[in-house]
Amino acid sequence: MKQICVLGLGYIGLPTSSILAAKGYHVLGVDVSRKVVDTINSGKIHITEPDLDLFVKAAVQSGKLRASLTPEPSEAFIIAVPTPFKDGKKPDLSYVEAATAAIIPHLQPGNLVILESTSPPQTCSHVILPLLKKAGFTPGRDIYLAHCPERVLPGQIMREVVENERVIGGYTPECAEKAKELYASFVKGAIHLTDSTTAEMVKLVENSFRDVNIAFANELSLICDELKLNVWELIKLANLHPRVNILRPGPGVGGHCIAVDPWFIVDTCPQTARLIRTAREVNDGKPEFVVKKVMQAAERFKNPVIGILGLAYKPDIDDLRESPAIEIAHELRHKNAGQLMVCEPYCSEHPDFELCDLETTLKQADILVLLVAHQQFKKIDRELLKPKIVIDTCGIW
Ligand SMILES: NC(=O)c1ccc[n+]([C@@H]2O[C@H](COP(=O)([O-])OP(=O)(O)OC[C@H]3O[C@@H](n4cnc5c(N)ncnc54)[C@H](O)[C@@H]3O)[C@@H](O)[C@H]2O)c1
Repeated sequence: MKQICVLGLGYIGLPTSSILAAKGYHVLGVDVSRKVVDTINSGKIHITEPDLDLFVKAAVQSGKLRASLTPEPSEAFIIAVPTPFKDGKKPDLSYVEAATAAIIPHLQPGNLVILESTSPPQTCSHVILPLLKKAGFTPGRDIYLAHCPERVLPGQIMREVVENERVIGGYTPECAEKAKELYASFVKGAIHLTDSTTAEMVKLVENSFRDVNIAFANELSLICDELKLNVWELIKLANLHPRVNILRPGPGVGGHCIAVDPWFIVDTCPQTARLIRTAREVNDGKPEFVVKKVMQAAERFKNPVIGILGLAYKPDIDDLRESPAIEIAHELRHKNAGQLMVCEPYCSEHPDFELCDLETTLKQADILVLLVAHQQFKKIDRELLKPKIVIDTCGIW
């Protein structure tokens, strides 16, 4: 294989494209956004990820990476478009369908189609396969179809795309083998072959496992609140058991993976996936609990000033997608809880909130609500916290 087309140039598609280009492939990156295409063709990047800028600049300068609004004939097509959910927590597969439709006019016998987007079980066999068949292609006979889920951690994507172990699910065993040929050329981690639906489930199950574990921790935090116990001490002591590993509670669960993926299983098996659904509901209910705590604290002041520390969905990044902290800030404003001072050191601005610097927030707030365990917040001098009411949802203070 020499020519590869990657559809979707975001956090997954762009690192993959630039790594493939560094390996010597001719890569055409396709995105529906003109701005993204122009940015990449100028050798720059539109997202924040360590080292990605260097890879993209080198790939574009070497002529191995180009970006375009439309696909071209290639030997392999990698689909890395968004798979969000829509109303009613139903998966929105319209991006996957649109990307598949866009490549069909360029498909030729012997081509490989890979779905990298995190997808509900049976997306390859029930969504992509019918579109390919309608166009006259039969995966396993004249073309190859496989699902290769991504497990990368934002902030370490350039390293993890190469080093992580990979699961490759073929629509047929031949499809899996064909996809393995491509991945083995740039992945150093072990590659495990399976069928496409198992591969789809593997990714969803990994994130659902973490969601259920966090829901357990979050439920414990509510129980401890009722019993007036310190949940952090409780978990620390319980985790001394050699076979117990409870994760940490928090203000809720955010991000585009753990807060989304379990719903894909629930949507597919609504009667059976009871624990997975409940875990989502427990984690989605946590922001309401935090808001209640802040409202109770605010009652002690005539004109309370509430310092919101952190908006991101996890520490030390600027990613705000599905963040429970944003939900909490919105709800506090909606309820007129007090004067809000919102501090997010990783963002310079936010469309809904005027951001305040940490020093001023610490000085002026009566109540400090810690929503993200950013390094900057961990370093705060504890003396400064003493005169404040502190609601530490991450357990760092
Ligand atoms: N970001 C992560 O850390 C991560 C980790 C594992 C899995 N995933 C999964 O990978 C997939 C992509 O995620 P992402 O974070 O890269 O998304 P993203 O939003 O960063 O990027 C997706 C890109 O696809 C483009 N796009 C939309 N429709 C298109 C189409 N029809 N054709 C071409 N381009 C199109 C968008 O303009 C955007 O630039 C999702 O399914 C996600 O769940 C992401």
